[in-house]
Amino acid sequence: MQPTRENAWETLTRYTQSESLLRHALAVEASTRFYARRLGEDEERWGVTALLHDFDYEIHPTLDQHPQEGAPILREEGYPEEVVEAVLSHAEHLDMPRDTPLKRTLFACDELSGFVHACGLVRPTGLEGLEPKSVKKKLKQPSFAAGVHRDEVYAGAELIGLALDEHIANVVAALQPISEQLGLRRGADAA
Ligand SMILES: [Fe+2]
Ligand SMILES: [Fe+2]
Repeated sequence: MQPTRENAWETLTRYTQSESLLRHALAVEASTRFYARRLGEDEERWGVTALLHDFDYEIHPTLDQHPQEGAPILREEGYPEEVVEAVLSHAEHLDMPRDTPLKRTLFACDELSGFVHACGLVRPTGLEGLEPKSVKKKLKQPSFAAGVHRDEVYAGAELIGLALDEHIANVVAALQPISEQLGLRRGADAA
């Protein structure tokens, strides 16, 4: 099977109702696709993987199930092993090697996409004008978006060999075009 975005969206929405989880999937997809384009990789394949990385979280909300018990479902549906393995590798507790650019990028985009999204939600202009330095400042406030693992944000940037500022700027740029789907205000609406 050569999975398409449509396949992945169909699988994701069959198992996921929560709007915030769907928005998380879309945010990680946009960031991962950004890097696929930049690196000349298979954007569709990378996007599919990102859309699916938490597809089973609603049915498997604890780490003794997510994402490892989701993997057999993906295999059953015919997703290629490259996709299934990358999905598995995003989970820290499984301790799998992140030995492909797709695995590294997915890991690097997962927590940071959620964090940048959270930053955008509390700004009247959404992501417009959001600077890496203010994202970094918020990273240092443990109470803000407390669910985001800071250590994974820092480790992710390092894993893809980028300075944190650059990685943040890339993720902000990647999310801006889908602001509306993410429930973010746009600069123009706020004016
Ligand atoms: Fe996850
Ligand atoms: Fe995630």
